Amino acid sequence: MACWHHNSIKANFTDLQVVAAYDIAQDRTELAKKNGLITFESAEEFLASHLFDIVLVAAPNNFHCEYVCRALEAGYNVICEKPVALNCKELDKMEETAKRTGKLFSVHQNRRWDKDYRIVKKAYEDGMIGKPFTIESRVHGQGGMVHGWREFKVAGGGMLYDWGVHLIDQMLDMIPSKVVSVYANLHCVRTLEVDDYFKLVMRFENGITSQVEVGTFHLVQLPRWYACGDGGALVINDWDCNGKIIHTKDTVMNWEPVVVQTKAGPTRTMAPRPADTLEELPLPDVETSWASYYRNILDTIDGKAELKVTIPSVRRVLRVIEACFESDEKGEGIKTDI
Ligand SMILES: NC(=O)c1ccc[n+]([C@@H]2O[C@H](COP(=O)([O-])OP(=O)(O)OC[C@H]3O[C@@H](n4cnc5c(N)ncnc54)[C@H](O)[C@@H]3O)[C@@H](O)[C@H]2O)c1
Repeated sequence: MACWHHNSIKANFTDLQVVAAYDIAQDRTELAKKNGLITFESAEEFLASHLFDIVLVAAPNNFHCEYVCRALEAGYNVICEKPVALNCKELDKMEETAKRTGKLFSVHQNRRWDKDYRIVKKAYEDGMIGKPFTIESRVHGQGGMVHGWREFKVAGGGMLYDWGVHLIDQMLDMIPSKVVSVYANLHCVRTLEVDDYFKLVMRFENGITSQVEVGTFHLVQLPRWYACGDGGALVINDWDCNGKIIHTKDTVMNWEPVVVQTKAGPTRTMAPRPADTLEELPLPDVETSWASYYRNILDTIDGKAELKVTIPSVRRVLRVIEACFESDEKGEGIKTDI
């Protein structure tokens, strides 16, 4: 991911430059050198160099707390990769250090700028499906693999910390309401000690039921987004943002319901509506880019903007993750005030 940051900054910015890197592994250090970066033998040398103003922490999750605190103490502004920390206790320490040093501290929740998410957020905010009552967000992989350190508990592995943190962050960013309960079920389908599948249901104070599902072994995949409101429904089928919005033209039922015969038996309640009562709309067009994250960091440092990914916002996500672990362990829903 550090390579991705380097390449993205090179491609998108003239007023931001990556100059140096530190990695514990020799081959990664060699690669950084080959890519034109100044490298160091130790984290101490790196932090003592003061050749830069911002430190990005992109090590495995269990090292985030230690490196963030050390970089803040050394006088740098710090961006941490997601998940910010393994638990709220670690985050307390990081936040306290940031407050005491007066340095900027933010988390790379880049998926707040994903195109699919921005489409759903716009549809929500513009009332395109009326008042939503259920929003489902899922990512279904097929490979059945979890790579490297992500396989291990001690490193903060598992899909809840990896993809869950993004999908929960998007839900909390979009829905302006408290999470009042959390129910989660985690599975090790093909892993030994960390979740490679979870399903989470969050109930919001404003009445919305939101479901987040992540798994690595889905040979049949469901849509990326599915949302229903009292005026319509939205679906985004895939990563390429193919999908649609369906509206009803009428607010009252002005046709005669009929019983349909299906292979699964007769039904009237679940019979399809007459096609001429439905209207299909394209998804709204949105322009978005992950580079907006860094633009906001630079503008915040220059005093020209408010920080978008704030620590209170990532703390809410971490609290939901903690409630998920508790719910899974107890096998029941957890009342929350998040
Ligand atoms: N925001 C996103 O979209 C996104 C995407 C991928 C990864 N990430 C996050 O980035 C971080 C890194 O993930 P990755 O996929 O790049 O993992 P990775 O395994 O590919 O890279 C981690 C690097 O950290 C180095 N490292 C390990 N322990 C270290 C230590 N103690 N000190 C210094 N360096 C150490 C490794 O040698 C390796 O080069 C994770 O927190 C992950 O969640 C974020």
